[in-house]
Amino acid sequence: MTDSTAKLEIGGKEMELNVRPGSVGPSVVDIAALYKETGMFTYDPGFTSTASCESKITYIDGDEGVLLHRGYPIDQLAEHGDFLEVCYLLLYGELPTKVQKEDFDYRVTRHTMLHEQMSRFFTGFRRDAHPMAVMCGVVGALSAFYHDSTDISDPHQRMVASMRMIAKMPTIAAMAYKYHIGQPFIYPKNELSYAANFLHMCFAVPCEDYKANPVLARAMDRIFILHADHEQNASTSTVRLAGSSGANPFACIAAGIACLWGPAHGGANEAALNMLAEIGTVDRIPEFIERAKDKNDPFRLMGFGHRVYKNYDPRAKIMQRTTHEVLAELGVKDDPLLEVAMELEKIALTDEYFIEKKLYPNIDFYSGITLKAMGFPTTMFTVLFALARTVGWIAQWKEMIEDPHQKIGRPRQLYTGEQSRDYVPIAKR
Ligand code: CMC
Repeated sequence: MTDSTAKLEIGGKEMELNVRPGSVGPSVVDIAALYKETGMFTYDPGFTSTASCESKITYIDGDEGVLLHRGYPIDQLAEHGDFLEVCYLLLYGELPTKVQKEDFDYRVTRHTMLHEQMSRFFTGFRRDAHPMAVMCGVVGALSAFYHDSTDISDPHQRMVASMRMIAKMPTIAAMAYKYHIGQPFIYPKNELSYAANFLHMCFAVPCEDYKANPVLARAMDRIFILHADHEQNASTSTVRLAGSSGANPFACIAAGIACLWGPAHGGANEAALNMLAEIGTVDRIPEFIERAKDKNDPFRLMGFGHRVYKNYDPRAKIMQRTTHEVLAELGVKDDPLLEVAMELEKIALTDEYFIEKKLYPNIDFYSGITLKAMGFPTTMFTVLFALARTVGWIAQWKEMIEDPHQKIGRPRQLYTGEQSRDYVPIAKR
């Protein structure tokens, strides 16, 4: 790997720019000095050609459909690892040894309970509030309860905050669900695996015994692995930007949750299922395919397309398998939504419009179907995404804070508004 340079001719001046290679994937043209030397900014709305940071965590090759965490392919991690192992990998850069894994699991499970006073915080929300609204509020409120882990300059406090968020997110998510349906909160059970404990907190009731189905617990764990990190997507960039100002980690993750909520990002799994319900029956699919192709119709096939993947999303492949495992375990055969989903997938994969634009089903297309079969209402889908993505957000936030070159993120703009003009008193307007 050698550095090279690029030449830019601008305003009659020639400027030499450093080209920095990555360990794999595209190089970047370092334009940090551009404004100082030329008085110009670059313009890249939606950041389609902009690397916002340097990172060693996750690599995506969207054309080839590759996703690596710390170099390990996502399919190998999903096949052989468990979620907490992937958390360790994302946070520390290497897979844990057996001893390290046991210690990590122990440290996470020690933090699963929520400050008891926080359970009363939930009652301030309306029961019919969207659980993502509750998540934004409650996760943001963690900084009001855990003052001893908000000093970002202290590595120990950063570590404790990280453990707390990974450990408490399932508890908070399950409480948001229980509050929504009017059932009592179920406390975490530390003898259970991370995923089984989450299912227990969501689906157990105090008056009956509950044992999580191991096939569903494994599927849940796999869903968490598949959502754990995804490079510099909108919510991760939001967390980094919020963190760049020195905001505490709980506030940064709450910002990430808010960003994730949108239907173009984490909200797509909920939107995909709502769309399947709207389509309703297989015979109506062509009508919706036509709408998706119509430039004058804002309708899009939710769960299809991706900013980075112009090939099959590698997570979608694993998710598709998991979907079938879960449906087989639960004996779901004649679900009309599933029928619509499978037919839609088939039609879209052979349709010229979708082939030409490289629009493949993404992970959200399958995760929604799986989560519905497992018993989660659609409003919980994005909550589960947030739960799993928390570790990615934290790993990226930690990497940023620990980078000695880190400075506050402050994009500039191409200003196209009014030029300077004098104030006109209201009576004269
Ligand atoms: N249905 C129909 N047409 C589509 C779709 C779709 N789902 N997605 C993109 N297109 C078309 C779009 O109209 C455009 O056509 P043209 O070039 O003729 O104007 C072309 O494909 C490129 O689309 P784009 O909007 O420029 O692409 P983007 O990279 O900005 O958008 C996306 C990516 C994911 C926002 C978009 O594909 C989309 O809205 N998909 C549906 C929502 C969805 O499933 N989101 C989940 C993303 S994966 C989970 C995550 O990472 O959060």
